[in-house]
Amino acid sequence: MNEQEFIPKKYSGLIPAGTTTWRAPSNIALVKYWGKFPDQIPANPSISFTLSKSATTTSVSYEPKKQNSDGTSFTLLFEGKPKEEFRPKITTFLGRISRYLPFLNEVHLKIDTSNTFPHSSGIASSASGMAALALCLMDIEKGLVPSMEPEFLMRKASFLARLGSGSACRSISGPIVEWGMHKDLPESTDLAGIPYNGKVHQVFQDYQDTILLVHKGEKTVSSTAGHDLMNKHPFANRRFEQAHDNLSGLIGVFETGDLERFIQIVESEALTLHAMMMTSLPYYLLMKPQTLSVIQKIWAYREQTSVPLCFTLDAGANVHLLYPLQYREKVLQFIKNELIAYCENGQYICDQLGEGSKKV
Ligand code: PMV
Repeated sequence: MNEQEFIPKKYSGLIPAGTTTWRAPSNIALVKYWGKFPDQIPANPSISFTLSKSATTTSVSYEPKKQNSDGTSFTLLFEGKPKEEFRPKITTFLGRISRYLPFLNEVHLKIDTSNTFPHSSGIASSASGMAALALCLMDIEKGLVPSMEPEFLMRKASFLARLGSGSACRSISGPIVEWGMHKDLPESTDLAGIPYNGKVHQVFQDYQDTILLVHKGEKTVSSTAGHDLMNKHPFANRRFEQAHDNLSGLIGVFETGDLERFIQIVESEALTLHAMMMTSLPYYLLMKPQTLSVIQKIWAYREQTSVPLCFTLDAGANVHLLYPLQYREKVLQFIKNELIAYCENGQYICDQLGEGSKKV
């Protein structure tokens, strides 16, 4: 893959008016992306489970610009209401990708977006949000380039979504997506996420992710600032090597279904992500006391029951509980008995592996 293939030749027709709607899921990384180089090039490869229910649906209506103005032009509704806070991120995104979608300078867009997960739940909406928007824009481009293959549309959508939010490039397809060059995956690239096409043991089919909403407020340090702190981080290089090794380890685990090793890699990745935050300068913490209590309860429960339940964390305090479908009832009972007390307003979201984005 190279960036040149995403710069289109001149469009033949005029830009019509229309509307397109896409639903893109969130994703949860097993090997974490943490640290990047300019133009959203990841410092290490990552791999994620695509979720099913936690998603963003975005409609984009488009029409030729009425006045001849420079740059991109859009209005934005979030859950039916104007949302000024989102404008700067989308302005930057559209500006960055207009080189790959030149029609953006000639249209006015009406973007209408909403999430399935509760507003300010602490679940990052940037991955699903940027993925859904990138897909809508690719659908508009497909109208101008009718010969475009569906596979190219998805690939370029992932390439574009990456430029909005790195992890968004893993929200286009499913159920497992890899992003970033890795020696064991010849097709892998820093430019986009690719659906993982290695062997996957049936234990991972319909794998469950129950998200405990431990803290629903805004993060005190953004992911952008966190990635930047990896630039001068004393442990950065060793960490990047470790991510490569953990990804190699997971490739083996996907094939054999070795859940003990899966748990070891996934929990270590989550704790390492937060350890990187705690050892940057300035250092910071995104876990809350409830996060630690939940982790300790999970370890005790696993010890007592041998249920292969493990956790992972995003850049926040919420805890993702990962486990095979066959343990669903047991784990949900455990959550009700012991973990719900640590969730803000007792809230949690039952999700599972999903197939990726869909046109609505
Ligand atoms: O996509 P960003 O820039 O918001 O970074 C997200 C990074 C983590 O969610 C912490 C890890 C990951 O790989 O998704």
